[in-house]
Amino acid sequence: MKTRGMIILSVAVVIGLGGLLASLNLNTTKRQSLRIFVHDRKQALGLNPGQRDLEHMRIMTGLKDVSNVSCRHCHGIELEHMRWNKPRRRHPTPEGMVHSPDGGGLFVALADQNQVVEIDTATRAIKRRATVPGKPIGLAIAPAGDRLFVTCREADTVVALNTARFEVIGTAAVGISPVGVGFAQTPNGDRLIVANTGSGDASVIDASSMTELARVNTGREPYGVQTSADGRLAFVASRLAEMPHADQAPAAELTVIDTVRTRAVKRYPLESAHLSESIALDANRGWALTPMVRVRNLIPITQVARGWVMSSGIAFARLDGSEVVQMPLDEANAYFADPADLVLHPRGHRAYITSGGGDVVTVLDLDRMFEWLEEASPAARQRAIHDLELAHDYVVARIPTRRNPSRLALSPDGNTLYVAERLEDSILLIDTRTLETLGRIELGDGGADDPIRRGERIFTTAAKTFQSQFSCRSCHPDGHVDGLTYDFDGDGIGDNMLDNRSLQGLAGTWPFKWNGQNPSLAVQCGPRFAKVLMRTDPFSDDELKDLVAFIESLPPARSRSAHLTELTPAERRGRDIFFATHTPDGEGIPRDRQCHHCHAPPLYTSRMKTDVGTRGPTSLIDEFDTPHLLGIGASAPYLHDGRARTLEELWTLYQTNDLHGVSSYMNKHQLNDLIEFLKTL
Ligand code: HEC
Ligand code: HEC
Ligand code: HEC
Repeated sequence: MKTRGMIILSVAVVIGLGGLLASLNLNTTKRQSLRIFVHDRKQALGLNPGQRDLEHMRIMTGLKDVSNVSCRHCHGIELEHMRWNKPRRRHPTPEGMVHSPDGGGLFVALADQNQVVEIDTATRAIKRRATVPGKPIGLAIAPAGDRLFVTCREADTVVALNTARFEVIGTAAVGISPVGVGFAQTPNGDRLIVANTGSGDASVIDASSMTELARVNTGREPYGVQTSADGRLAFVASRLAEMPHADQAPAAELTVIDTVRTRAVKRYPLESAHLSESIALDANRGWALTPMVRVRNLIPITQVARGWVMSSGIAFARLDGSEVVQMPLDEANAYFADPADLVLHPRGHRAYITSGGGDVVTVLDLDRMFEWLEEASPAARQRAIHDLELAHDYVVARIPTRRNPSRLALSPDGNTLYVAERLEDSILLIDTRTLETLGRIELGDGGADDPIRRGERIFTTAAKTFQSQFSCRSCHPDGHVDGLTYDFDGDGIGDNMLDNRSLQGLAGTWPFKWNGQNPSLAVQCGPRFAKVLMRTDPFSDDELKDLVAFIESLPPARSRSAHLTELTPAERRGRDIFFATHTPDGEGIPRDRQCHHCHAPPLYTSRMKTDVGTRGPTSLIDEFDTPHLLGIGASAPYLHDGRARTLEELWTLYQTNDLHGVSSYMNKHQLNDLIEFLKTL
């Protein structure tokens, strides 16, 4: 009786409110919120929406049937309410690390807290702190130990610190999102080589005047940098592989830069390899080494159970440029997920490498690896990466760590190895002579009470996948894309290829997946996902909640320089094209072919599926989720099947008779302007 009374009362209130609204003299925002409130209540009570609301939704969506549309598809979305825009707990997460050449101090970049700290290695306590805004991440130190150089990923700068006073003495502007940095003493002066992950190039900086001398193109997302002892060469490992065509195997690039002539002198392709975040040189034996993931994205994902989708290894590139050999790190039943950093002992007999997903540091016998390399036939060298028997021969030890070991540093004598345990805010010390652990430097409490931190631990662990082969991060580094298309279907090779999607800026952009079938992140990452992709037990409800908290905390990617403060003239012209309702000739553009109708701000999505004529050779459907466009400049390739390698190609090669926005009137300059605008989102 009581519930029925409540319902009758609610219905009366709702109907009454609806009527009242029309007569009240409220401002637009208030009227809008009230009407939405009334509509929501009606929907909850199973009542029909009013004619006016129906008509409004029909006009705004261009659909006849609006039964699946709610006011919230278009209203009440504000960027400031997105989780990634809310304040959150910041952790002393250790990122880049470098040891002082005289042995006394360890410098650590704490990006999340905008600090660089110096740790006294004898007492294991923080001795000094410097505030360095803009997410300090990569470190390099001058051989004399007097200057420390820090890349600031969010500020697009590299900063010089005087180590005596521990204060900033210079700043240079570089490309977008710099990470790795190397120092080189050249006949022409001191140089820094900075890997700009966002702009796909490396800056060569004069380290004395802190000015940029040149930019050299690299592969996509250059990450690790290593300079030769004579300072003449810099080796840059790029993290993402590029697929020349949607059905061709990807390759990453190892770029060799002449630091004096400031240009690339050699580009090694790393076939079917990516996620190289570090690089080391063995000059005596004449090789450069970079950790890598061997990816087989073109084979059906159902092959996870056979260990065929991803494996880990080290690419050995001969310095004379003659060959690249990929050596495996996995052993049968002991996979090595997400290799992160690689350092060589100064004596050259051993290498140390972290498995960010497997929580282990692996110690490798380099002498044995080189022996094998010298003796094996060229054919055997090319097959090596597929041989899971091989690693057994040169893996000396697998030393367990806390969650997400990443960067490594060695003391100058090579006796102590420092391992950043990223998601526990600690640094593990290992004696390289005995391989015993020597305790830890604790930078904080580990942050286990923060759901976002816990979520990132789940996101980066391989413990949840079949035989611990990979983690979410293996395909979504930093929660972003790996730039590859995958065969998630399993009904034949190369069927229904799906482009990877970024998780950065994803909050509020439901529904998910290219087919728009998943209404929430919890469903997207839930049991079906576990079955298809991970081949193991699904996440618990609590884990799922934390995982979603982490994903929603990721802000959109940035593909525009932090040094630009306002829109350039080209970007402004592009914005006008994006929001145009008429062509420059004055001809009206139908509402459902205006860019902003489907890609409606502030998230630049209508949250609806549409057919814009983009069905491709392997597609099984015509209607796709309208993708949000936040950070779009950084997530190539494009379209559900990754057919378009660049934004331009969407309207050049894959123009769909003006179904996907009226664009046939645009000349080359107008298209360029439109793309410049898209890159600002
Ligand atoms: C497909 C997108 C879409 C949907 C769905 C939608 N609206 Fe709108 N609405 C708009 C746009 C676009 C405008 C005009 C710009 C603005 O004021 O935000 C608008 C304007 C309004 C306005 C202000 C103008 C006026 O008529 O006073 C109100 C009120 C409003 N909407 C209420 C609603 C309600 C209630 C619902 C749900 C029944 C709804 N809208 C559903 C897109 C939509
Ligand atoms: C093998 C590579 C791979 C792995 C591993 C992977 N993903 Fe993805 N992810 C993809 C691809 C490809 C898509 C696009 C698939 C689609 O739309 O159907 C995607 C889509 C998504 C989406 C939807 C994004 C959107 O805009 O609709 C979410 C959320 C997501 N992944 C989260 C995760 C999480 C969480 C994990 C770990 C539990 C994970 N992914 C592991 C490749 C991967
Ligand atoms: C009728 C709705 C609609 C209109 C109008 C529209 N789009 Fe799209 N847009 C979509 C859909 C749906 C997709 C996904 C298509 C696919 O993956 O095959 C898409 C894809 C895109 C992508 C690629 C996203 C990615 O992650 O791969 C970009 C960029 C884009 N649109 C920009 C624009 C611009 C600029 C305009 C105006 C010239 C425009 N769109 C007009 C619905 C629309």
